[in-house]
Amino acid sequence: MDLHSALIALRDPMGIPFFPWLFQGLMVLTFALHILLVNLVVGGIFLAVYHHVKGGEYGRKLSKTMACCSTVNLSLAIVLGVAPLLFVQVIYDPFWYTANAISAWWAMVFLLVITLGFLSLYVFYLKREKHPSGFGFFGLFALVMVVFAGVIMSMFAMQQLLPEKWLSWYVVKGSLQTLGGGFHAFSLGRFLHFMVPAFVNIGIYMMLYAWYFRPRTDFDQGYLDWIGKSGVRLAKIAAMIQVVIGFWWLFSTPIKFGFYRNPVFLIGAVLGFLVMVALIMVQKDPERYAVPMGIVSLVAVLGMSAAREVLRMGYLGQFDYSIYQYPVNLDWGSTVLFLVTFVMGLVVIAYPITLVFKLGRGTLSVEEG
Ligand code: HEM
Repeated sequence: MDLHSALIALRDPMGIPFFPWLFQGLMVLTFALHILLVNLVVGGIFLAVYHHVKGGEYGRKLSKTMACCSTVNLSLAIVLGVAPLLFVQVIYDPFWYTANAISAWWAMVFLLVITLGFLSLYVFYLKREKHPSGFGFFGLFALVMVVFAGVIMSMFAMQQLLPEKWLSWYVVKGSLQTLGGGFHAFSLGRFLHFMVPAFVNIGIYMMLYAWYFRPRTDFDQGYLDWIGKSGVRLAKIAAMIQVVIGFWWLFSTPIKFGFYRNPVFLIGAVLGFLVMVALIMVQKDPERYAVPMGIVSLVAVLGMSAAREVLRMGYLGQFDYSIYQYPVNLDWGSTVLFLVTFVMGLVVIAYPITLVFKLGRGTLSVEEG
C-alpha cells in the first residue's frame, strides 16, 4: 500500500460533519489565541522569576503582578489549547493520532509536566512575598515545565508532518515499538519561532498594563512609567531576534515547498517585520500606542498561525493529501448547535468582562454600576 492510500485509510470513514474550511479557519484562529496565551505565560513567569531574584522596589512589584497574571494566563492557555486540539483531531486525524500513538508515553508525560508546572507556579505565587529570598526555585521549575510542555507539543506537531518516517519509527530492526517511548522529530528553529514572541508579547502586555492602570490615582505613576518603558524595550529587542529566528525557520523548511514564495508566508513575515518597526517607532511614548500595538501583535500572531497551516499543507501535499478531499457528511444540527452556543457564549461573557475591565481601571461610575 502506498502512503497516500494508507493516509486515506486512516481517515474517519464517517467523514466530517461540515466543510473542512470551517474547521481549518477555526483551528488557525484558536491556535493563534492558544499560542498568544502560551507566550504570555512563558514571558510572564520569566519576568516574575527574574525580578524576584534581581529585587528592587519596582522589580518586586512587577514580579508579584506577573506571578499572579501567569496563573490566570496558564489556565487560559490550557483552555484555549483544547479548541485547536478538537479541530486538528477532526481534519488531521490520521496525523494527530499516529503522532500521538507513536509517542504515547510523551502524551502522558505532557499531562504530568503541565500539572507539576501549574502547582509549582501557585507555590511560587503564594509564597514568594513572605519569603523574598526563597521560593524562586518553584518559579523557575514552573518555567522549565511550561517550556518542556511546549517542546513535547512541538514534537507532536513535527511528527505529524513526516508520515514517510512513521514506519521506520514504529518498526526498528524488525520489532514493533509498541511502548510509545520514542521522541523522534523536533525542530529548534520552529520551536523558537513560537517561543521568542513570548518576550515580544509580554513586553506589549506591560505597555498595556501601564495604559490600563494610568487612570487609577492609587497607583504609583512612576512605576507605571517604568513598566511601560521596560515593556517596549523588551518587546523591541525580542522582535529583532524574532526576525532572525523567522529566517532560520524558513531556511530549515524543505526548499521544494517554495515556502518563501507563498503569499501567506510573505504576509506573515511582513506582519512580523511590521511589529518590530512599529515598536521602534513607539518607544518614546509606549503607553499612548499600547492598544494599537496590542492589535498589531495579535494580527501578526494570526499571520504566524496561518503560515504554520500553509506549511502543513505543503508537507502533506507531497503525499497528495488534502483536507479539502475529506468526505463531508453534512450534519446541520450539530453544526448549528455548535455555532449558536459558541456565539451565545461570547455574548454571555462579554458583559462580565466589560464590567471587570471598567472596575479594574476605575472608570466605572456609581450610576453605571
Ligand atoms: C502550557 C503549556 C503549553 C505550551 C507551552 C504549549 C505550546 C505549544 C506550542 C509551542 C505549539 C506549536 C507546536 C508547533 O507547531 O511546533 C503548540 C501547539 C498546540 N498545542 Fe499547545 N502548549 C501547551 C499546552 C497545551 C494544552 C494543555 C493543549 C490541549 C489541551 C494544547 C494543545 C495544542 C494544540 C492542539 C496544538 C496544535 C497542534 C497541531 O496543530 O498540530 N497545548 N502548543
